[in-house]
Amino acid sequence: MSKPKRITKLADLMPDKANANRGTERGRSLLEKSLQECGAGRSIVADKDGEVIAGNKALEAAARLGLPVRVVETDGQELVVVQRTDLDLTEGGKARRLAYLDNRVGELGLEWDAEQIAADIAAGLQLGDLFSKDELQGLRGWAEIKEKKITRGGRLYNAGEGHDVEPFKLAHRVEAAWRAQGHKALDLYSGLGQLAEWYRRRFGSVVTVDRAIAEVDYPMTAEAFIARHLSEHLDFDFVDFDDEGTPAKVIQQFLAAIAGKRPAPFVLALTDGNGLNLKCRGKLDFGATYLTAEAGIRYAVAEDYERFEELVTGFIVRASERNGFAATQWSSYRGREGNVVYQTWLIAPA
Ligand SMILES: C[S@@+](CC[C@H](N)C(=O)[O-])C[C@H]1O[C@@H](n2cnc3c(N)ncnc32)[C@H](O)[C@@H]1O
Repeated sequence: MSKPKRITKLADLMPDKANANRGTERGRSLLEKSLQECGAGRSIVADKDGEVIAGNKALEAAARLGLPVRVVETDGQELVVVQRTDLDLTEGGKARRLAYLDNRVGELGLEWDAEQIAADIAAGLQLGDLFSKDELQGLRGWAEIKEKKITRGGRLYNAGEGHDVEPFKLAHRVEAAWRAQGHKALDLYSGLGQLAEWYRRRFGSVVTVDRAIAEVDYPMTAEAFIARHLSEHLDFDFVDFDDEGTPAKVIQQFLAAIAGKRPAPFVLALTDGNGLNLKCRGKLDFGATYLTAEAGIRYAVAEDYERFEELVTGFIVRASERNGFAATQWSSYRGREGNVVYQTWLIAPA
């Protein structure tokens, strides 16, 4: 084995290029706060060349703060103890805060990279004692689907690069808008307003909502709009949930908010891109999100991707029934790359 590299400063260390923890924004910011408030607690572990095995996020944060380093060379036969001479647990305060911060940073800063884990397993790394069979199955499910080349595609909403719209999505929505009765549409994920432009050709009034766009009627989340303003717009005839994540929970909130207050039928259009997102961040509470009989959070498996359209369809039926409505599907289409579902529905009081 070659000689260990001499490390005297942070810049001598290199991050792990194949780190299976992507980290999270919240974890990163809490780690930086912890370092600033309590100073360095744990040590980090590097290999003999200075590539960081454990503590890659700490390396990033320490680099941002410009901390000096002290290196303890070891072959792993002894435990390196970081003794903080300025802290006293019996005096609570800072030492106790550090204990909390240490655990919470680890908890909040972990986001497994499913692709990296799948690649490591494929390369022969034994991880069976770290991940349960179900968890590994979920990861394999994703890897399998990736083989089928389900990808984002990438051009759907790229304003300035042609701003293409998925043609079947548009066709089905325009068809539904034309079949809808009445004059008022709610566009709750309005974005740059491509669909809204079409709705304006059909409806006398189009109410637009988006959490990230200032040029809408309600620059806020759909959740906030439903809680604060939906009661002013109960005369709507068409509502659109065009969300490439999943609008399922918001649809539940919406239907619950109008239960018993909507004598007339209306049209509901939705986009659900969770077939894409299942790739995981890995885990999903199918029961709470899609009102299936399942309890608890689990990893998605290949079958979940295969049956995604069916899942969304069943969800709209269940969410409607739960709130006293009957749902009739007008169209359901799985986007070109298979990762997004577009649907239109007639929702009528049961
Ligand atoms: C798929 S794009 C909408 C495209 C748009 N309907 C169009 O036709 O051009 C999704 C939009 O939803 C917005 N969004 C995401 N989560 C939201 C939420 N909880 N409430 C409101 N808007 C949200 C995003 O800012 C983004 O603009």
